[in-house]
Amino acid sequence: MSRWEEKAQQFQGNLRAFARRHGLEEWEAWFAPYDDEVYRFVLERLHPTDVVLDIGAGDFRLAEAAAKLVKRVYAIEVFPGLVADFLSSKGMAMPQNLHVICANALDFPFPADVTVGILLMRHCQHFSAYFQKLKVVGAQSLFTNARWKMGIEEIDLKLKRVNFDNAPSGWYACECGAIGFKGVSAEDISVTEKVHEVKNCPQCIREEGVIVTW
Ligand SMILES: C[S@@+](CC[C@H](N)C(=O)[O-])C[C@H]1O[C@@H](n2cnc3c(N)ncnc32)[C@H](O)[C@@H]1O
Repeated sequence: MSRWEEKAQQFQGNLRAFARRHGLEEWEAWFAPYDDEVYRFVLERLHPTDVVLDIGAGDFRLAEAAAKLVKRVYAIEVFPGLVADFLSSKGMAMPQNLHVICANALDFPFPADVTVGILLMRHCQHFSAYFQKLKVVGAQSLFTNARWKMGIEEIDLKLKRVNFDNAPSGWYACECGAIGFKGVSAEDISVTEKVHEVKNCPQCIREEGVIVTW
């Protein structure tokens, strides 16, 4: 077992009950780090004035690196074991601008000064909830691998989205977290690399006027 596997909650007996209590899918509550290339994509695009919110911070490796580059980092991790390990390993060396929060990001209110969200969680089932919460506090962008899974992207949260029905044929990515291809097939039209950012796609399920899942 590697060092992170020893600490990861998925190798501890009570994960299923813990995840259920928090309204998370079991896979969603697993910790696994990503490649350095993924972290580099984010770190290279941060600015000194950014206030970052890292949702599902894992073992805090990215949050700690980001804190060296930006004004402030809030790092939320639901699993107490990961938080405890990080805090005890850092001790007095904890950076002043890194705020570690042990909480469920689904019910924890997002700080009002956040400008950039990070959601590195390929198995995320709550993209829509995090996306909307970031928009409510006025965040500008979101780095995530939750929509394309194997690819990381920076989403402009201020972008004006077109309704799915009015979007041209081609690839689309929705604010609910769904991605897909609109059109008969990719061969029927001249497909460009461009991905259309949409809202109200076929996978959005509306309940009381709110997109709740995908
Ligand atoms: C795949 S790991 C990735 C960790 C980290 N983002 C990274 O890139 O190294 C996902 C992490 O998100 C945490 N997580 C999942 N849902 C969460 C939630 N609602 N609130 C806080 N943390 C959550 C899990 O406990 C897990 O540690």
